[in-house]
Amino acid sequence: MTIWCPDLDHKTGPKYLLIAEAIGQSIADGSLKERDRLPVQRDLAYRLGLSLNTVSRAYAEAIKRGFLHGEVGRGTYVRGAGPMPLRDAPSGMVRPTSGPIDFTLNLPAPGEGAAELAATLADLQGSDKLAAHLDYQTDGGAPRHAEAAAAWLRPLGLDAHADEVILANGAQHGLLVSLLAMARPGDVLLTEAMTYAPIKALARHLDLKLMPVAMDDGGLSPAALDDACRNSAAKVLYCMPTLHTPTAITMTEVRRREIAAVAKRHDLLIIEDDVFGFLPPERPRPLACHAPEQTVFLTSVSKCLAPGLRVGFLHAPDRLRRALHAAVNLSCWMPPSLMAEIASTWIMDGTAQRLNQFQRSEARARQQLARRILSGHDVRADPHGLHLWLVLPKHWWADAFRAAAERQGVKVLTGETFVITQADAPNAVRICLSHEPVRDRVIQGLEIIAGLLDETGHPGDLVV
Ligand SMILES: Cc1ncc(COP(=O)(O)O)c(C=O)c1O
Repeated sequence: MTIWCPDLDHKTGPKYLLIAEAIGQSIADGSLKERDRLPVQRDLAYRLGLSLNTVSRAYAEAIKRGFLHGEVGRGTYVRGAGPMPLRDAPSGMVRPTSGPIDFTLNLPAPGEGAAELAATLADLQGSDKLAAHLDYQTDGGAPRHAEAAAAWLRPLGLDAHADEVILANGAQHGLLVSLLAMARPGDVLLTEAMTYAPIKALARHLDLKLMPVAMDDGGLSPAALDDACRNSAAKVLYCMPTLHTPTAITMTEVRRREIAAVAKRHDLLIIEDDVFGFLPPERPRPLACHAPEQTVFLTSVSKCLAPGLRVGFLHAPDRLRRALHAAVNLSCWMPPSLMAEIASTWIMDGTAQRLNQFQRSEARARQQLARRILSGHDVRADPHGLHLWLVLPKHWWADAFRAAAERQGVKVLTGETFVITQADAPNAVRICLSHEPVRDRVIQGLEIIAGLLDETGHPGDLVV
């Protein structure tokens, strides 16, 4: 039997965290299985050339994250998918840990990154380049930030170069910037039939006509997109090929090629929102790889690292970059360089990859909880997504369900929030699992949802 031993070569950061993350990764890829026994701490310390104390801390961290269970002296084992140990509320939290359980906000799990932020700020304090962050930046900001951004995007399959990347204040700002650059008042903007809700307000303010395009189980329908292009003068499509909100669908590579082919045929520009794209350890290459001349690829650090950094990245073809730069200048002049500096440092020194790994592991653990608690119900989800889409049984109308859940202290959003045309609203609710700071509230909230689903006697025709 081979003894589990992580490969820490070329990895930077505190060793105990690297080991804890490697445990999570090995569970995710199946090389560690439920009830597998971890090596004795002293042996692992010897193999890795580390102190016993470091390995003890690593195991303690892995236990805290719900990967392992064990007691000192009696061995440490991989946990099953059963109930997870409760994480304590991270200190300094601003998200409430009392009051209604909020499943409406699609934010990453809190609790990691504060120590890294303190260390990065301390390094910056001693840097002779600090004052540079007090100045306006010209031509799209510091080259080092664009280099870091391109390096961050490349593992997704994008052949990104620094001069093709534009920084924004998060993906929401990137979306505004893209629409300012690519559409004119009165233009038709195509979206998936269910879409990111703020696009509706953006379109209203920019005087764009929204036109929903049908989806199927694989996501946006190429045939429906083709029809929409033929029957309208649409120039731009906004879509979410990876971990679509609210349905959690990720388009396959084949589907992406089909969508790209339609876009090329009609010279349709695409805004590809990939804000969740760093969560799945493996995912198909971006749509931008299949239609590079048509696509503005848009992402941010909000879901994979921390939303408060407000750092977003746009990757665009040459023909659109001037207009995108101009839209950034118009809307905010430039994203604050201090925030870009923090994100860039994290990308270049490996901190970003570790924090992203934490989000993956936490998302996975919470999705497992949801799968167990909501088993037997029509749940659409991705094992690494932050949200799930719950199609309601016939005896519940979505709005009545939302209200009943709220009466029991659980907040969810109904299908209506995400549709352009109200009549298209599916009888379903979106449940965001990662905003709540502690897992026991997630469990509690899901159990309330499961209890409601099992209730009968809520025929739709009684609902007003
Ligand atoms: C699909 C989607 N796109 C964009 C955004 C905005 O992200 P950011 O926080 O980077 O502005 C969000 C945030 O919830 C989102 O869910």
